[in-house]
Amino acid sequence: MAADKKPLDLSSLVIPQHVAIIMDGNGRWARRRGLPRAAGHRAGAENLRRIINACVEFGIKILTIYAFSTENWGRPEQEIKALMKIFARVLDQEIDDLHAQGVCLHHLGELTGISPSLQEKVRRAIDLTKDNDRLILNVAFNYGGRAEILHAVKHMVADGIEADDLTEELFNSYLFTSGLPDPDMVVRTSGELRISNFLIWQAAYAEYYPTPALWPDFGREELYEAIVAFNQRERRYGVLPE
Ligand code: IPE
Ligand code: IPE
Ligand code: MG
Repeated sequence: MAADKKPLDLSSLVIPQHVAIIMDGNGRWARRRGLPRAAGHRAGAENLRRIINACVEFGIKILTIYAFSTENWGRPEQEIKALMKIFARVLDQEIDDLHAQGVCLHHLGELTGISPSLQEKVRRAIDLTKDNDRLILNVAFNYGGRAEILHAVKHMVADGIEADDLTEELFNSYLFTSGLPDPDMVVRTSGELRISNFLIWQAAYAEYYPTPALWPDFGREELYEAIVAFNQRERRYGVLPE
């Protein structure tokens, strides 16, 4: 363990298997420093590295991150360009390290609409890391929960599925998260108290953890605090406690 890392006691904690994060607040982080928004997105990308390391350290098995929503296409062209450039650079510079670390990359969302060169990088990264099993990293990119549900329904109709055969389990298998357990906890940074079209089906019973920290400031210790808070929750799923 690096000398600058604060020792954190995980021994008495239940570690959530699947953590999902709405990485919000990059723009405000930059504005508070008098920097352009792109600098906030770059700081956010660097922070992702720290959080991936922390997930591996804590034994979280699945991390899902909201990187770019279907609604984010409505932002100014300059901002979208800066974000795409950062995603491409992260894929170029980090994928070998992530692979060595045992990270298996998945994409949630549609590749259509993304530039062909970025699509190719995503496909290559997924293929390179497909057999890794230390941490599954789902990157929700060009992702929206409603678009995902529509995508699933269209494919079910195309497959000729009859209404009587439709179950929640079958529906799950048509989502981008097919085969993965639902998130146990959804973290949202930057103090916003909304779900913004993220995993609206899968997070039905996730524990919601909003935090005022802006995404570039949400580090290993903040993730630990989120896990501590998760351990104080009682998950009831609509039934009465014993
Ligand atoms: C989150 O930060 C990153 C993306 C949505 C891509 P924001 O860019 O939304 O930052 P704020 O909310 O403006 O501070
Ligand atoms: C949600 O953040 C999307 C991502 C973090 C990628 P937004 O900043 O886009 O959400 P709103 O606009 O505040 O709801
Ligand atoms: Mg935002």
